[in-house]
Amino acid sequence: MAKIRLRAYLMRSGEFGKAHDAIVLAKFGKILVNGKIVRNPEFSVKTKDKVEFIDKGQRKLLKLKPFTYIVFNKPAGFVCQKSKVESSIYELIDQIREIDFETRKTLFCVGRLDKDTEGLVIVTNDGRLSDRLMKPESHITKTYLVKADMDLSQDDLIKLKGGVTIKSEDGKHFVKALEAKLLGEKSTELVIDEGKKRQVKLMFEAIGNKVVYLKRVGIGNLRLENLDFKGRNYIILERQELEKLLF
Ligand code: URA
Repeated sequence: MAKIRLRAYLMRSGEFGKAHDAIVLAKFGKILVNGKIVRNPEFSVKTKDKVEFIDKGQRKLLKLKPFTYIVFNKPAGFVCQKSKVESSIYELIDQIREIDFETRKTLFCVGRLDKDTEGLVIVTNDGRLSDRLMKPESHITKTYLVKADMDLSQDDLIKLKGGVTIKSEDGKHFVKALEAKLLGEKSTELVIDEGKKRQVKLMFEAIGNKVVYLKRVGIGNLRLENLDFKGRNYIILERQELEKLLF
C-alpha cells in the first residue's frame, strides 16, 4: 500500500497554496485522517486513507491530484517563486489549460532560475522526483550556456574547473565546474552539479568577468535541444518519459 507524509498529501490535494499554510492548519487540529485529528505533518498516510480538512466548521474531503510533469523553457523576465509584484512562472503554469485548476495549484518548480535566466525548469507535484533531483548526493548535472562580458581564455576555463570561492547569502563556498568548453570568444558551455544561489554568475565574478546572458540547456541527460516544444514554452510528459530523458 502506497504511503505518503501528511504534509505531501496536503500539498498534492491542491487545497493549499503554501506548505506552511497546510502545516499550520494541521497543527491547529484542522486535518482529519480516517476521522481522527492528526497534527503531525510527518504522519504517514496511506493513499486509501480518508483525509479531510475542517474548513469553516465543514469537513471537506481532500483527494490526491494526479502526478504531473512539465518541462519549461523559461523565458527571461519570470521569477520561479510565487510573487504578487513580479512576473512569475506560476502565471505561465496557470495558463496551461490541459491541466485542471486544482492540479495546477499542486505544482512547484524543482530548483530555481534567476529572473533573467532562460531555459530548463522542471515543474511537478512529485516530491520524490524533486528530492532525487535536488539532493546534493545525487550530483545531477546542470548545463548552462553562458555569454560573458569579456573574452574568455583557456586559463579562465582552467580556473573554473579547478574551483573558485564564491560568496552567497549562506556564506562562502568553493565550487568547481565539471566541464567548461569555449563556444566562442565570450561564450562557454558550463557543467556544474551543485545549485548554490546565483552560482554561475558568482563563479564568473570570481574570475573577474561578468555573465551577460545565461540559459540552462541541460539537467542530467535532459537536453533542451532534443525537446520539441511545438512553438510553446512547455511540454507535459509522463513520469517514465521524463525519467528516461533525465537519468
Ligand atoms: N546560476 C546563476 O547564476 N543563475 C541561475 O539562474 C542559475 C545558475
